[in-house]
Amino acid sequence: MKVLVVGSGGREHTLVWKLKQSKRVKEIFCAPGNGGIEALARCVPIKADDIGGLIQFVQGERIDFTVVGPEVPLALGIVDEFEKRNLKIFGPRKMAAQLEGSKVFAKEFMKRHRIPTAAFESFDNCPAAENYIQKVKFPIVIKADGLAAGKGVVICNSLKEAQNVLDEIMTKRVFNEAGNQVVIEECLVGEEASILAISDGENFVMLDSAQDHKRIFDNDQGPNTGGMGAYSPAPVVSKKLFKEIATKVIKPVIDGMKQEGNIFKGVLYAGIMVTAKGPKVLEFNVRFGDPETQAILPRLKTDLLEIMLASCEGRLKGFDLEWDKRSCVCVVVASEGYPGDYEKGKEIAGLEAAARNKDVTVFHAGTVKRNGKILTSGGRVLGVTGLGSGIEQAVKRAYNSVGKIDFEGCYFRKDIAARAIERSKKK
Ligand code: AMP
Ligand code: GLY
Repeated sequence: MKVLVVGSGGREHTLVWKLKQSKRVKEIFCAPGNGGIEALARCVPIKADDIGGLIQFVQGERIDFTVVGPEVPLALGIVDEFEKRNLKIFGPRKMAAQLEGSKVFAKEFMKRHRIPTAAFESFDNCPAAENYIQKVKFPIVIKADGLAAGKGVVICNSLKEAQNVLDEIMTKRVFNEAGNQVVIEECLVGEEASILAISDGENFVMLDSAQDHKRIFDNDQGPNTGGMGAYSPAPVVSKKLFKEIATKVIKPVIDGMKQEGNIFKGVLYAGIMVTAKGPKVLEFNVRFGDPETQAILPRLKTDLLEIMLASCEGRLKGFDLEWDKRSCVCVVVASEGYPGDYEKGKEIAGLEAAARNKDVTVFHAGTVKRNGKILTSGGRVLGVTGLGSGIEQAVKRAYNSVGKIDFEGCYFRKDIAARAIERSKKK
């Protein structure tokens, strides 16, 4: 088969790497790809949200199957457009992608189907929201309704802070129409986990658990980022908890969407807060997580293409996934300044030495290849990923390779998976 992966980050490098291991994949393409993906796939300069351009390419090249990495094309309806033309594609349709694209939609859906989540109110005008925050207990969480590249969620500790956030989102419209509505919700306390499942609209398979590290600095300090590192499995998710999330969250979503005539196909990613009162949903994503994918897929033994085709063709019933029992840790190497402003175009040294280490893979996120050299081109630059027989060995392997990499302004967290190591020591 000829397969196209849409996107350009570490997640997409991992998807290309994994799909290429499938015997059925004869040729693999990536749009637009990055400096690392180029070594595995033919990269074509079409942007991930240029749906017309992608359709033209897929028809011209006779691509058999398209896999979408990021949320924006899904929210724009890439799956609907492909299906209209009988082109095979993995992911949810536009209406179903609202589970990520509209926080108001997701919260109201959860309320209708009694899926555990933080108590909330939603508002479509600023005075009503301002009136409401006069009466609440702080902290509270304010969320812009639409997609805001991970920046639309703010935990507010005081009335003044909350008034400023509402002003930015609803009056100044810093996230444009994503701020037409807001969700204001209870602040949950606990440890976070990322639980991903793949559905065909009716049946689903669960992927092993993972944990992300959202903040930029060690010990979860500083602003939120796209994710600075991840590991899988996540020991905070016990077997019992994993089952509870499958029955109380994932199944009711798949069943509820079907019941509402809005079937969900593709990856359902539930961001979970493990609270004293059990698991609660923080958010849904309708795609693979980044960098969770870098930590999950190296552990997946089952052919990913087969799972995705089964999802697309409604054949997931009875599908069983096989996992490598080892632990996997991905450390994100970023450009100094990220998630704020950063410089680009820095030459990266040590990539070959880093990849030579046993059970280590270096996934590229923000890189370009120019004149044979790999240069930085984004905030998150690389995802250095190590497998090990336990979490400590995986961490050691990943950091050993990170130590071989260098570029001007190279930054990474030193405490990826520290929580898991602590937990494994307590046992
Ligand atoms: P979201 O985009 O909804 O996942 O939010 C991004 C991050 O904000 C989450 O990963 C959490 O760390 C945090 N967050 C979101 N909602 C809440 C909540 N209700 N209580 C506490 N933290 C939250
Ligand atoms: N790592 C969080 C996300 O992919 O949204």
